[in-house]
Amino acid sequence: MTRAIAIDGPAASGKSSVAKVLSQKLNLVMVNSGAMYRAMAWKILQLGIDPNDAAAVIAALPTMDLECGVDTSGKLSTVGFDGQWLSDELRSEQVNNAVSAVAKIPELRTILLKKQAAYLESYDVVMEGRDIGTVVFPETPYKFFFKASEKIRQARREAEGITDSIAERDKQDSNRKTAPLKPADDAIIINTEDYDLDGVVACVIEHLETLGW
Ligand code: DC
Repeated sequence: MTRAIAIDGPAASGKSSVAKVLSQKLNLVMVNSGAMYRAMAWKILQLGIDPNDAAAVIAALPTMDLECGVDTSGKLSTVGFDGQWLSDELRSEQVNNAVSAVAKIPELRTILLKKQAAYLESYDVVMEGRDIGTVVFPETPYKFFFKASEKIRQARREAEGITDSIAERDKQDSNRKTAPLKPADDAIIINTEDYDLDGVVACVIEHLETLGW
């Protein structure tokens, strides 16, 4: 039987960095579910559709065949269209500004939910996002929710040279009707400001061991 670790939290709370280290240490596939939403937002922009026009986005969904896989290292999820994997283009300012509007559309979420769940059919995973513990894998006992102050999170993005209004994105992600950003009732909450990267990883591993991983 395969197992899943769920890590949720707001933008720049440290989910991806920690999930990548965990995937190496525990031999899991790290699935970046945000990249799936970003890929859909990127495609919508490519198609010249206004991401805020939900009806137009929904009408385009049948033509958007998002391919989800695993890279050659066998450790990281990949996303793409028509056999072409996407990476840097998913972090653009345009995608940052479009992704929350697209992610609040329930029809689009349903499509991605199936693709996220499909990873667990083949792999042990550490999946990070906004609704992994609440919606994607509610039955896994290994659930974490990361938090850090908005100031620290904005500074992390700026240090990466990325223009991203994370406060606005968090507001939209937390206030949407479908699968809003919030901790699962049984999630372990970690304030990532209290540790460096190795410290957060050690803290997660300690909790996993207590939970019987
Ligand atoms: O993790 P990220 O910042 O790359 O995610 C980009 C956006 O995708 C985020 O602002 C909201 C959406 N998202 C979501 O709605 N549900 C997820 N499980 C992951 C991301």
